[in-house]
Amino acid sequence: MTFILLKHVHVSCAVISFALFFLRGIWSFNGSPIMQQGWVKVVPHAVDTLLLASALTMAFIIQQYPLMDAWLTAKFFGLLLYIILGSVALKYGKTKTTRIAAWLAAQVVFAYIVLVATHHNPLPLIH
Ligand code: HEM
Repeated sequence: MTFILLKHVHVSCAVISFALFFLRGIWSFNGSPIMQQGWVKVVPHAVDTLLLASALTMAFIIQQYPLMDAWLTAKFFGLLLYIILGSVALKYGKTKTTRIAAWLAAQVVFAYIVLVATHHNPLPLIH
């Protein structure tokens, strides 16, 4: 029961995290004033914290851990890459081209993480 609930929280946070990242990219590239609103700076971090907390609790319950089990290792480093690309896209990228390229690459990495999650396999499309 707890696990199912955690998984719902985890997947919901993943969907919201992706939607907010996607929108923040568009708002940022268009110079939208929405980016200056307080909630835009707070809500994504709260959602991502919940995403990670639910992930770690589930990993503990099923006794499978990043750096020990290949699929969770892939998710862990995937998440790290997603965070780095996301910060280049929304903050550190020097030119608009760099920021858009990082924003697109982050979305590819996100899709990879979802495929790893659903296949429990670090190479989800290779059988
Ligand atoms: C952007 C980051 C992440 C995304 C998009 C994501 C996505 C998902 C999705 C879609 C599922 C459900 C898979 C299914 O249908 O069974 C899932 C399950 C899970 N994720 Fe994540 N995840 C992320 C990060 C992480 C991280 C970093 C960890 C590791 C600590 C993790 C641990 C787990 C675990 C343990 C499950 C449950 C698997 C099971 O049912 O046995 N996730 N994740």
